[in-house]
Amino acid sequence: MSTPLAGKVAIITGAGQGIGRAIALRLAKDGADIAILDLNIEKAQMVIAEIETMGRRGYATSTDVSDRDSLHAAVERAEKELNGFDIMINNAGIAQVLPLLDVKPADFEKINNINIGGVLWGIQAAAASFIKRGVKGKIINAASISAHKGQPIFGVYSATKFAVRGLTQAAAQEYARYGITVNAYSPGTVGTEMWEQIDRIMAERDGVAIGDSFKNQASGIALGRPSTPEDVAGFVAYLAGPDSDYMTGQSPLIDGGMLFI
Ligand SMILES: NC(=O)c1ccc[n+]([C@@H]2O[C@H](COP(=O)([O-])OP(=O)(O)OC[C@H]3O[C@@H](n4cnc5c(N)ncnc54)[C@H](O)[C@@H]3O)[C@@H](O)[C@H]2O)c1
Repeated sequence: MSTPLAGKVAIITGAGQGIGRAIALRLAKDGADIAILDLNIEKAQMVIAEIETMGRRGYATSTDVSDRDSLHAAVERAEKELNGFDIMINNAGIAQVLPLLDVKPADFEKINNINIGGVLWGIQAAAASFIKRGVKGKIINAASISAHKGQPIFGVYSATKFAVRGLTQAAAQEYARYGITVNAYSPGTVGTEMWEQIDRIMAERDGVAIGDSFKNQASGIALGRPSTPEDVAGFVAYLAGPDSDYMTGQSPLIDGGMLFI
């Protein structure tokens, strides 16, 4: 079995379920020990239990990524528990289905704090630790197809994901001199709880059956099916591994053929 990440440690935010969980399991299969930072500690612990059955070390801790102090402290705990880390994946994020006219200040603040703040604080915590320890680490952020094309009724979500691309490009240039790379992944339509929630809201809003909006969204995908979390995790494994050492500042699409840019 190939284990390109043997001896490495990855910290992943929002890996209690969905894409983050698939990334955690994939990187563990590739040989890494895993720390999960999530609001939902029960789910994070369940994923860590799976990782331990694979013979890897794991650590779960509760964090709100939108709170800088909480995230920095959680990264420090994970670093201590697993004796350092080499890979930081800022995956946690939320969606909002809101036409621009309906956006309230509280909605705006919440999604900015989680989707932009969570990535910024995660980049900071990882870069500070990598620089201090002289680690040529990898920082990987969750963008989206919505980071490349603004999506109607997901306008503010799209804006947060454009911001993730901006942070990724800036951080890549700030940290290149330390040998740290910073990239992002841009999934399309992935079957996770995030989409189940979007689908429920759209069903109510448009008076259509549960599942129809997801099916409709997926119908335009060139490869003929929606993404699984594992499709995304395979690409993140490449970004986390040595084959991507000469890539930095990029946010490639992994969307089955939704956008062609
Ligand atoms: N599902 C998709 O189609 C899709 C497409 C493109 C991009 N993405 C992005 O991928 C990432 C993961 O999406 P997903 O579909 O797996 O989502 P999900 O809702 O299924 O899971 C998100 C996880 O993040 C955790 N989380 C949420 N807010 C948090 C916070 N403030 N602090 C700590 N943890 C928090 C949740 O507890 C959960 O475990 C997100 O950034 C999302 O925007 C998803």
